[in-house]
Amino acid sequence: MSESKFKAIYGTRDILPDDAPVWRKVISTVDLLASNANYGFIHPPVFEMTELFARGIGETSDIVSKEMYTFRDQGDRSLTLRPEGTASVVRAYLEHSLGGKEGLVKVWYAGPMFRQERPQAGRLRQFYQFGVEAIGSIDPALDAEVIDLNYRIMTELGLGDLKIYMNSIGMPEDRQAHRRAFVEFVSPNLAKFCADCQKRFATNPLRMFDCKEPTCRRLLEGAPVVLEYLSSENKDHFDRVLGYLESLAVPFEVDARLVRGLDYYTRTAWEIKSAKLGAQDSLSGGGRYDRLVEQLGGPPTPAIGFAAGMERIIMAIPEKISNNVSKRPGIFIVTAGEKYKLEAVKLAARIRKLGLAADIDYLGKSLKGQMKQADKSRFAHAVILADEEMGRGKIVVRNLANSEQSEVELDRIHAVQNADELGEVFGREG
Ligand code: HAM
Repeated sequence: MSESKFKAIYGTRDILPDDAPVWRKVISTVDLLASNANYGFIHPPVFEMTELFARGIGETSDIVSKEMYTFRDQGDRSLTLRPEGTASVVRAYLEHSLGGKEGLVKVWYAGPMFRQERPQAGRLRQFYQFGVEAIGSIDPALDAEVIDLNYRIMTELGLGDLKIYMNSIGMPEDRQAHRRAFVEFVSPNLAKFCADCQKRFATNPLRMFDCKEPTCRRLLEGAPVVLEYLSSENKDHFDRVLGYLESLAVPFEVDARLVRGLDYYTRTAWEIKSAKLGAQDSLSGGGRYDRLVEQLGGPPTPAIGFAAGMERIIMAIPEKISNNVSKRPGIFIVTAGEKYKLEAVKLAARIRKLGLAADIDYLGKSLKGQMKQADKSRFAHAVILADEEMGRGKIVVRNLANSEQSEVELDRIHAVQNADELGEVFGREG
């Protein structure tokens, strides 16, 4: 094996063909469940004007202040590799007037995001998210739909031990009222907080709830939370969201200290965590962002969405499910010598045309070598074109899971009209 001096950049990784089936499974599950709830697919570019993220996510957020991949292009424009999807979706929503006059726009997306964080298990610098955004309605039933969709996608993928933490961080007006009480609570002990928290105190005190330092956590015990300072309208909104979630049998816990790392959030906020993951246990996060459209130059438009980290989800999928995903109905064609090559080429083309997977050897391997390759292919069956059976117009079909073999007439395969009939000939288990 030759080794190149070139390596993937620190914090990025290749998704290799062996990993692909489970990635595809995640995307197809999101596609199916989001489409069933009438979300259309959107695919914004991976880079945007830096200002979009600075304004959208907030100058003082960790993402904007220290984690963005920002560069100047040949035209001296400041551009940034997207650290998340929401700002881009809102930009596209406004640019293409997707909302029309008063419509609700529901979209889902999946793709790479970029943040210059300290890499560790489950934390990368290029990572993948899927997410949904619903722009144009304040209805608490929509909050419930989005949270339910988030939860169902995960359970459909076989994830267990999930915890949904719900909070309302109110509108900026509620936070203003809370801020006074919070600042009063924290001020006498401010010097005992970590340097980061002291900085947060000056810029966005609420974010102090996000600190993982045990000392800071202890100092915040009993601190006032925004939930106690909500206007009656926002309190009512939150109560109705929780009521809908109960009716939909979505299990949750209220965590009044939950804050999110992006500045655009208002009212409903949530995170889904997995007990199976270590420090990076947050599988997904979302919330309302009822002022973002306006902040980016549009009319007042309430909105809600979430995004989930695909690497983390894949790490949390039970092995027996991810192993199962990788088995595919398909046929590896093994030939005893060059004389059956043409038959193998034609057979592979025919099987593929009928909608099943097929592959053959292109490296002139021995029969034994080809059988090994068939085993590695993770296809359900091998077909063997061998002298004795071919002499009788037959081929050998081998079930690669249990090594059982049977003979099938070649003509029968050529007469097959569709994938189902072909499956019957092979006794498909794949
Ligand atoms: P976020 O909480 O920053 O929210 O990211 C959502 C999820 O992306 C996290 O829960 C985590 O699973 C994954 N994630 C974040 N950073 C990394 C990383 N460095 N490596 C691996 N996975 C990571 C947002 O991005 C919002 N745009 C969500 C949203 C959509 N809110 C409303 N609409």
